Amino acid sequence: MSTFLTSPALLAGLKAAAEPTRLRLLRICAQGELTVGEITRVIAQSQPRVSRHLKILCDAGLLVRFRERHWVFYRVPLSGPEAELVGNVLQNLAIEDSDFMVDQQRLEDVLAERARLASGYTAELRQPPVSDEQLSTAVRKLLGSRPVGDLLDIGTGTGRLLRFLGESAEHAVGVDISSKMLLIARTNLQAAGLSHCMVRHANMYQMPFTNGSFDTITIDDVLNEAEDPAAAVAEAARILRATGCLLLIEKISSVNGVGDLEKAGPSRWLRDAGLACNTTVLVPEKRPAIVLCLGQKKDAAKRAA
Ligand SMILES: C[S@@+](CC[C@H](N)C(=O)[O-])C[C@H]1O[C@@H](n2cnc3c(N)ncnc32)[C@H](O)[C@@H]1O
Repeated sequence: MSTFLTSPALLAGLKAAAEPTRLRLLRICAQGELTVGEITRVIAQSQPRVSRHLKILCDAGLLVRFRERHWVFYRVPLSGPEAELVGNVLQNLAIEDSDFMVDQQRLEDVLAERARLASGYTAELRQPPVSDEQLSTAVRKLLGSRPVGDLLDIGTGTGRLLRFLGESAEHAVGVDISSKMLLIARTNLQAAGLSHCMVRHANMYQMPFTNGSFDTITIDDVLNEAEDPAAAVAEAARILRATGCLLLIEKISSVNGVGDLEKAGPSRWLRDAGLACNTTVLVPEKRPAIVLCLGQKKDAAKRAA
């Protein structure tokens, strides 16, 4: 596929960007995913006016729009020639201009309000069984030198796995069924400066992705409370690339202790989904609290052996 825009598409893109409010919109939407309401507060113009500008930018491919339950979000595209065009335009912008400075202050206020809401929700969550540092070290060690590529984290919750692996990923998406958790994940990713990571509303049993879309898929602390874990793992296997890997992370307490690991829980679900499960790691080693199981499609596992 061409990485260049045709002359009409380039002209449409340049015309769309060549307007003061639309330049401001591009600049704020490059910093993360924002709802129309949030954008209107930052730009301080009427919603119909803002919506008209947003439509022009979307029509030219300089913004993408997606719906999440009752909200419509906007962000700049992450790949393709339109993403490059937006990047080039913004790179040449001196932000000392007073409009941009005021926008930035209002954007920070909007994000601070989101963060306050998210921290209220976070306070209700239970503590994870191992620390961030222990989990991130174990995950990196297990994945080794294998490129993360296109990453999907299912049941992303606080966006923990995206924070560990997002920086090494080409593209990164976290999905969750809960709007509250999506708010927490979006806030955490924004705070970590990972604006190239996206979060989306989706149900793990019916993922909105075509077969073989991802190189690395993670499911951390989700399946133990799932109605049908094997079905969720089979759905993840469907959207895994032939050379990809699926990492399941579960609490030991939820898989009936270490003794049953080969017969039940993650390794069993991987095998039932037609994947080879050749690596299982316990963390921490001495008194394990979680188990990590890495699954691969059988051909890839044979080639790697
Ligand atoms: C215990 S949390 C773990 C979150 C995250 N993986 C972590 O380790 O921080 C389980 C997450 O799975 C999500 N979840 C549960 N059922 C789901 C489903 N059917 N589809 C997508 N996400 C689901 C929940 O909303 C919740 O955020």
